[in-house]
Amino acid sequence: MAAEKKQWWREAAVYQIYPRSFQDSTGSGEGDIRGIISRLDYLCRLGIDVIWLSPVYESPMVDNGYDISDYERINPLFGSMEDFELLLKSAHQRGIKIVMDLVVNHTSDKHPWFIESRSSRNNPKRDWYIWRDGYAGDPPNKMGSVFSGSAWQYDEPGGQFYLHFFAREQPDLNWDNPQVRDAVYSMMKRWFDKGVDGFRMDVINMISKFPQVLASNGGPGASMSNGPEAHEYLREMNREVLSHYDIMTVGEMPGVTVDEAKKYAADDGSELNMVFQFEHMELDNDPRLGKWAPRRYRLHDLKAVLGKWQCGLYGSAWNSLYWNNHDQPRVVSRFGDDSTEEYRVKSAKMLAACLYLMRGTPFIYQGEELGMTNVPLEKIEDCRDIEIFNAYRELVEEKKLLGPKQFMEAVKKRGRDNARTPMQWDISPNSGFTAGKPWIPVNPNYQTINAASQVDDPLSVFGFYRELIRLRKTNPVIVYGDYELLFGDDERSFIYRRRYEDKELLVICNFTRESIVDIDFSVLNLDNGSLLITNYDEAEIMNDRLLPWETRVLLFSV
Ligand code: GLC
Repeated sequence: MAAEKKQWWREAAVYQIYPRSFQDSTGSGEGDIRGIISRLDYLCRLGIDVIWLSPVYESPMVDNGYDISDYERINPLFGSMEDFELLLKSAHQRGIKIVMDLVVNHTSDKHPWFIESRSSRNNPKRDWYIWRDGYAGDPPNKMGSVFSGSAWQYDEPGGQFYLHFFAREQPDLNWDNPQVRDAVYSMMKRWFDKGVDGFRMDVINMISKFPQVLASNGGPGASMSNGPEAHEYLREMNREVLSHYDIMTVGEMPGVTVDEAKKYAADDGSELNMVFQFEHMELDNDPRLGKWAPRRYRLHDLKAVLGKWQCGLYGSAWNSLYWNNHDQPRVVSRFGDDSTEEYRVKSAKMLAACLYLMRGTPFIYQGEELGMTNVPLEKIEDCRDIEIFNAYRELVEEKKLLGPKQFMEAVKKRGRDNARTPMQWDISPNSGFTAGKPWIPVNPNYQTINAASQVDDPLSVFGFYRELIRLRKTNPVIVYGDYELLFGDDERSFIYRRRYEDKELLVICNFTRESIVDIDFSVLNLDNGSLLITNYDEAEIMNDRLLPWETRVLLFSV
């Protein structure tokens, strides 16, 4: 039995807000902080404990706020510092905590630190970023950026190249410089002193760079994650800042392995509380073209990956659980079935039960609790995301690896804009998101899928999420139980068991639109359990079969 401490962040349910698309209060077409305040009662209704707020800092918005030009000011697009303080106060009054986004692998190229750094080779802040000489006009090496093209950008007047793992407007900070680390830690302390309850840390396992990645002979494919000092820097951050506050931390970590996560999210509290791993988000990637040539995933692989993380961290570190965020397509369109209204609702509920009853802290992304779907992004002009534009330029226009049609098919399935369309509040124009022209069009299906039609309906997707969160609060087995996969080889169902003290939880999910009749359910002793939740009418479910997209959760006393 894992002897982990009972901590509020293990028991919490987190809700991610993407401020630009949540609620506009001014008619500007952009969501804002006052808009969020006006929706806090909705979040109370859902029952969440923590809001993770995607960046609201000052930013040129090249990457929607993940390019920060001032860590200690609020972007006027979203409001003022007074608005932010009011949000914090209003949330706290309702018992909701606020976790901010910490984006410190890179800044915006408009950040004063970078403006100084680039101004000349001998500027005192030159070494705050990563500068290298090129070769006869070519970049220092062939390293590619996550957002396509080279990871190096030539810059006058210093006549050198700077490193950017993401867009060229997002230069990487040099974490090997102690002044950089100090500046970041002081900034974090000021936010904690203001009362924020934690940080979600953007690509935080990329802050320490491998020397060979920077060396002039480094080649493509060089690793960007889990560099040599990553743990050292996080332990230092923990000592200097985190350990002094009662807060929660979650590190976004592309390329993290179970072994690495056991250190990053160790139960001893020496680094962070938990990590976002990416393995289940990559199961539908093409080996060469990644997300830009999506393929069908296999349920077997999904079970293997999630199970590996469940069992791998058990007793030594803590999991996060997520299907969605602002970088991922909508889960119901990806692993569920949005082809009919009935299956959309059923599969959205099934997916929620399947993941959020595992061991770990759930992170729900705005609109997921309504079963919001992907968007018909037909043309590149329908998109807003820099990642999509850069990939289009490289894969379609320059390298001609994909035709425009093929590329748009991929965007429809995997593009980040799927997650970024406005929250669907009601059936009024622009779904009640804005009185103006939204910065990105509303998904046309808002007439059917919206909060107003769901909040009072216990049979809605919202009602189901609300009930799952309530069950989490009343059944410690959901938070603290262990994990065991059952019928592991079955390609259609996902069935697992959790055990804690004298309780056993059985979670049964059908990942297909067919009934499943040929599994021997008798070994599960279904008659002895009490039904906690299901996505069918209780009278419809049967002990010898699973209905299309069914989920059924039973509690046993042992
Ligand atoms: C993270 C963010 C993503 C952003 C990137 C660069 O992956 O979630 O939205 O584009 O980091 O900051």
